[in-house]
Amino acid sequence: THQWRGVIEEYRPLLAIPEGTPTVTLGEGGTPLVRSAWLSYATGGEVWLKVEGDNPTGSFKDRGMTTAISVAVLEGARAVVCASTGNTSASMAAYAARAGLKPLVLVPEGKIAAGKMAQAIMHGAQVIMVRGNFDDCLRLSRALADHYPVALVNSVNPIRLEGQKTAAFEIVDRLGDAPDFHLLPVGNAGNISAYWLGYRQYADLGRATRRPVMRAYQAEGAAPLVTGQPFPRPETKATAIRIGNPASWRLAEQAAAESGGRFRSLTDDQILTAQRELARRDGVFVEPASAAGVAGLLQDLELGDSYAGATVAITVTGHGLKDTATALEGFGDLVDTVVDADVDAAAAAAGLG
Ligand code: F0G
Repeated sequence: THQWRGVIEEYRPLLAIPEGTPTVTLGEGGTPLVRSAWLSYATGGEVWLKVEGDNPTGSFKDRGMTTAISVAVLEGARAVVCASTGNTSASMAAYAARAGLKPLVLVPEGKIAAGKMAQAIMHGAQVIMVRGNFDDCLRLSRALADHYPVALVNSVNPIRLEGQKTAAFEIVDRLGDAPDFHLLPVGNAGNISAYWLGYRQYADLGRATRRPVMRAYQAEGAAPLVTGQPFPRPETKATAIRIGNPASWRLAEQAAAESGGRFRSLTDDQILTAQRELARRDGVFVEPASAAGVAGLLQDLELGDSYAGATVAITVTGHGLKDTATALEGFGDLVDTVVDADVDAAAAAAGLG
């Protein structure tokens, strides 16, 4: 029986990381690729969900964090810093804790889901809340790393992308070839850039006969890749992708251009509806931003695009438990039914009999 060893040990020869890099791992990667029956039916194709919420800290960020923290250790770092909308900070804090590094986190004040904040704090991060948005936090983090003895582990660090590209490897390993289309949410644009690296590498090595068309989705209040202009005041309930000036802008455009892909935007309503449908129909509970790929597929169908006969991979990036407040907002009465401890009362309230 095979025990998954984490993405560095599973894929080390394919990763551009220095020789002798130690392995700081929580066993990340090896996440499920789950077939979605309703989305396959809706498209007339085969739709697969790459469930990245199943990573150790509940998001895809762990794939890049195992490589970034391992290389930081090799280079003798004592402290690491990142800007984050929540998931990167949760992941960095966990891997830094394992490596004995001091984690320093900069987040936009009041815009981080509670679960992510709890993770960073539990793992011993110093959390600094900034009066500003993610883009401000990233600017500060870069400046701190330039002037103080602390290593930057945002995805502007290319070692992050080396780890994150393994998700593309896993999809090809599982499906036997690259999908026709790959759909995913985009915020700071590291993930789409990493997937494209991975798909290209597998095609170059002959492990895949093709590369997918990359289609990526942003919230309409934070859609710089769609409009071509930075958003000085990004706004969306999908706080994970509330980013107005993505660091990997050029790489993301390259991925879309080289693959024949594109960027589209979605309303918060479309994103939250897709989140709920995914939970109810597939049993997969993701945080709002993570549903953008599914919302994007549904919108594409409405706009008349065809996925008939196609194999489609959709990354769902983070776990629903990260942000229970937003999830519960939509339900009101449904979570408020209170009865006496009495079978008839419970049956009546449940509409039985
Ligand atoms: N989905 C989730 C759940 C995320 O946390 C992020 C990014 C994205 C999608 C977008 O990925 O930035 O590579 O384009 N979260 C970062 C963070 C910004 O700080 O946790 P991306």
